[in-house]
Amino acid sequence: MYLNFHFLFSTLLIFTTGVTAVNPGTTLSASNTNQSWSSPSSLFSLRFLPVDPPTSPPTFLAAIVYSGGAPIVWTAGNSLPVDSGGSLQFLTSGSLRLVNGSGTTVWDSGTANLNAKSATVDDSGRLVISNGTNDIWSSFDHLTDTLLPSQNFSVGKVLKSGSYSFNLSNVGNLSLFWNDSVNFWNQSLNSTVNQNLTSPVLSLTSIGILQLSDVNLSIPVVIAYSSDYADAGSGGSDVLRVLKLDSDGNLRIYSTSRGSSNPIVRWAAVQDQCQVYAYCGNYGICSYNNTNPVCGCPSKNFEMVSGVRQGCRRKVSLGDCRGNETMLSLDHTQLLTYPPDTESQTFFMGISACRGNCLSGSGACFASTSMSDGTGLCYIKSVDFVSGYNSPTLPSTSYVKVCPPLDPNPPPSLGETAREKSSRVPAWVVVAVVLGTLLGVVAIEGCFWFWCCRKTARFGVLSAQYALLEYASGAPVQFTYKELQRATKGFKEKLGAGGFGAVYRGVLVNKTVVAVKQLEGIEQGEKQFRMEVATISSTHHLNLVRLIGFCSEGRHRLLVYEFMKNSSLDNFLFPKEEQSGKQLNWEYRFNIALGTARGITYLHEECRDCIVHCDIKPENILLDDNYVAKVSDFGLAKLVNPKDHRHRTLTSVRGTRGYLAPEWIANLRVTSKSDVYSYGMVLLEIVSGRRNFDVSDETNRKKFSIWAYEEFEKGNIKGILDKRLADIVIDMEQVTRAIKVCFWCIQEQPSQRPVMSKVVQMLEGVKEIDKPPPPKLVVEGPVSGTSTYISSNVSAFSTIGASPNVPSSSSSIQTSGVSNFALGRNPEKATSSLLQSEDL
Ligand SMILES: *[C@@H]1O[C@H](CO)[C@@H](O)[C@H](O)[C@H]1NC(C)=O
Ligand SMILES: *[C@@H]1O[C@H](CO)[C@@H](O)[C@H](O)[C@H]1NC(C)=O
Ligand SMILES: *[C@@H]1O[C@H](CO)[C@@H](O)[C@H](O)[C@H]1NC(C)=O
Ligand SMILES: *[C@@H]1O[C@H](CO)[C@@H](O)[C@H](O)[C@H]1NC(C)=O
Ligand SMILES: *[C@@H]1O[C@H](CO)[C@@H](O)[C@H](O)[C@H]1NC(C)=O
Ligand SMILES: *[C@@H]1O[C@H](CO)[C@@H](O)[C@H](O)[C@H]1NC(C)=O
Ligand SMILES: *[C@@H]1O[C@H](CO)[C@@H](O)[C@H](O)[C@H]1NC(C)=O
Ligand SMILES: *[C@@H]1O[C@H](CO)[C@@H](O)[C@H](O)[C@H]1NC(C)=O
Ligand SMILES: *[C@@H]1O[C@H](CO)[C@@H](O)[C@H](O)[C@H]1NC(C)=O
Ligand SMILES: *[C@@H]1O[C@H](CO)[C@@H](O)[C@H](O)[C@H]1NC(C)=O
Ligand SMILES: *[C@@H]1O[C@H](CO)[C@@H](O)[C@H](O)[C@H]1NC(C)=O
Ligand SMILES: *[C@@H]1O[C@H](CO)[C@@H](O)[C@H](O)[C@H]1NC(C)=O
Repeated sequence: MYLNFHFLFSTLLIFTTGVTAVNPGTTLSASNTNQSWSSPSSLFSLRFLPVDPPTSPPTFLAAIVYSGGAPIVWTAGNSLPVDSGGSLQFLTSGSLRLVNGSGTTVWDSGTANLNAKSATVDDSGRLVISNGTNDIWSSFDHLTDTLLPSQNFSVGKVLKSGSYSFNLSNVGNLSLFWNDSVNFWNQSLNSTVNQNLTSPVLSLTSIGILQLSDVNLSIPVVIAYSSDYADAGSGGSDVLRVLKLDSDGNLRIYSTSRGSSNPIVRWAAVQDQCQVYAYCGNYGICSYNNTNPVCGCPSKNFEMVSGVRQGCRRKVSLGDCRGNETMLSLDHTQLLTYPPDTESQTFFMGISACRGNCLSGSGACFASTSMSDGTGLCYIKSVDFVSGYNSPTLPSTSYVKVCPPLDPNPPPSLGETAREKSSRVPAWVVVAVVLGTLLGVVAIEGCFWFWCCRKTARFGVLSAQYALLEYASGAPVQFTYKELQRATKGFKEKLGAGGFGAVYRGVLVNKTVVAVKQLEGIEQGEKQFRMEVATISSTHHLNLVRLIGFCSEGRHRLLVYEFMKNSSLDNFLFPKEEQSGKQLNWEYRFNIALGTARGITYLHEECRDCIVHCDIKPENILLDDNYVAKVSDFGLAKLVNPKDHRHRTLTSVRGTRGYLAPEWIANLRVTSKSDVYSYGMVLLEIVSGRRNFDVSDETNRKKFSIWAYEEFEKGNIKGILDKRLADIVIDMEQVTRAIKVCFWCIQEQPSQRPVMSKVVQMLEGVKEIDKPPPPKLVVEGPVSGTSTYISSNVSAFSTIGASPNVPSSSSSIQTSGVSNFALGRNPEKATSSLLQSEDL
């Protein structure tokens, strides 16, 4: 009698609010999405959710979700849907079972007859079935596509989403697979640490660090930082961070504030979504429309398969024209080739042989790609599954076997062709321009050749004056590797090591002291390198380090800069113990801040080929004899292969975390506003003498930058200021101004950040500064995300951002918040945000 009543009572309870411990005999029905089994503090709940995007007739998933209904952290049967008659039953036998409207079992926990007493969702997001004393089943042991902060991911476990999977090898390599075979993404540990791992475990900490631990590692190795790492949620609410393998094949970190239904991407493994194998399905060709990946078919010989990214199929199958097949040619298109395909299917072959052999060769061939990148490689596709990537910058041509007649795609869009027509220039102009350019190139090459041939003689006879003359004239000197070896005494005296390679002290024959940077990881060819050198050396500004010369020989790429006696700013802001005497007074600091801002303004807005720096940090701000700030390392970001995942995810993010704008870490579009963010962080450090990402007890375990804003709101400017400056009388009005500028610069939304010239004006005090809003806006619902994100301006300035194959990992299907984020960025609106920042 009592039991019966209890049962009734508990059933009633679920209908209204939700319960914590659920007894056998309880059911959740798919048609009532208000019903739920909640965790004690209602952080997580198990409930039915309609499948997204909605299906017709509607179908539902039994899912554990975070407080606001997103993200989904676990689903029964890893996303197996049921119709509206379906239910999730905790049977009296002890099994948890998902059944269809027709009564078919869709999924079962397999816990029958183990004496199960209760099922509970706990506040870590885990569903457990217990026999009263022990847990006999846990959702943490039955992984789906998501990893929660308190969950450990070890060797042998796998995250799965559709055809994609993610796992960890026993040496700590992280890999993404398609169809359990094609390995399209890897990240391995630094070879110095991966030797001796015994049982590596991957986990995402609650503050947003993806790390690998092992009994043989004294401290965990950081794999990636979430871009909101260590940020507390708005108003102190809890932020949930999860690692999720999305159905588009990308692995991402999402952050969700408590109560929000809008998870935000904070990191993505694959920068360039089009490089995810099979993203567009079989015979789907991925390309970028603006910054969004879009899918198309190779030609009109194909038709789209209905559904989201289901690929394309031949209108006429190859069997119907055997012997008469022909090859469809696709320019600037690469058919993705990843292991295990690469080795057995790669041949050295010219472009016409690459086409011909596929057409007529023995053995199956459905398509081929000929690389025009100088390797002379031809990839043969012997499986009738092809995943393509088209971009104007891809140096390859692909061929796809089809039945005749060829029916190519129409040119991109009607709107575009119309515009092209109206702006068509007469043929003779084109010829003249081309000839002019050619002559120009010849002349430039000639100049290089000229330096190149003279220099041996010049340095041979020590014509120092001559070299100085050239130095003064601004043209970069070309050195041989030998010369630089001699100048640096065999690269003996290391001054430091930056993101692009080590820097050595050197003395030229004319006694000029120089800093020689040995570039690493430069993938661009000779020509591109010379073009970048020309761009860098065309900059002339008091606050930029001067490039004296360069060396490009074989695989050696070196840059020779003027030497800065006082080294870099970080040595003064964060002195190591042995140099604790080093210290800059406020006046110097302010001038350094202003000088740095002027240097960056010049790079963004004033020089001929404008440059986004991409790596502004105290280490890259050098000080000359008079403590004048000189920005260094600009123009180098473009030289590094943007497709080098390791560089971006390990070296830069790791090396310079704290300075990278959120959009950069989340692998979204990078513009000059990303530099503004980095500058803001540096400015805060100049004022405070502390690293912006430091977390300490003094800052209530918050990141320094977050804590500083709270103090600023309380009016505690002195609390933010470097303690070493505390006892000295200084211009507090200037300090306040600098602090306000910081917070404007580190706004999460790029459009909210001022442009650099405005920063200079604000620092100088010629412009009133409004009170900055909190750097991190509360993004509740998708709307505020888009409305504030008006534009990423200055695509014209951007050396990286403007390139059409800028990686974008915006997923069009995942969360509305993400795709809106990407859609909001429209380079054509450059002026609107310049205007918008006018009212700062
Ligand atoms: C669920 O809750 C909403 C709002 O509280 C209500 O409008 C709706 O009728 C409820 N649905 C069911 C099936 O109870
Ligand atoms: C459940 O039923 C629906 C329709 O009745 C069907 O579409 C779906 O495939 C079924 N699911 C399973 C796993 O059998
Ligand atoms: C619960 O299960 C554990 C082992 O799984 C067993 O040792 C224990 O006796 C069980 N407790 C009850 C109350 O059945
Ligand atoms: C995860 O691993 C850590 C350390 O290896 C351990 O302390 C923790 O209990 C594990 N968590 C779970 C849920 O197994
Ligand atoms: C990872 O997954 C791939 C594809 O399913 C598989 O071949 C490989 O053996 C797995 N590795 C480990 C360590 O489990
Ligand atoms: C991933 O690592 C494996 C093992 O070293 C290697 O064979 C494969 O080429 C790598 N895949 C990619 C896409 O780099
Ligand atoms: C792990 O990755 C490294 C570097 O890519 C590679 O050399 C090594 O073979 C990989 N190991 C395994 C087991 O995949
Ligand atoms: C690998 O580790 C060594 C020693 O810890 C370090 O010097 C090197 O910079 C690391 N390389 C990368 C790519 O992180
Ligand atoms: C790994 O272990 C071997 C012996 O087991 C040892 O010689 C080597 O130094 C270790 N490597 C590292 C990086 O600890
Ligand atoms: C590309 O974007 C434009 C507007 O930005 C849109 O009109 C067009 O439909 C898009 N094309 C595709 C293939 O999605
Ligand atoms: C191949 O082409 C020839 C000539 O156009 C035609 O006679 C023949 O029927 C075609 N064969 C097939 C299988 O379509
Ligand atoms: C996917 O995997 C299955 C089984 O491993 C295999 O038979 C099939 O050929 C694969 N598909 C492709 C297109 O590689």
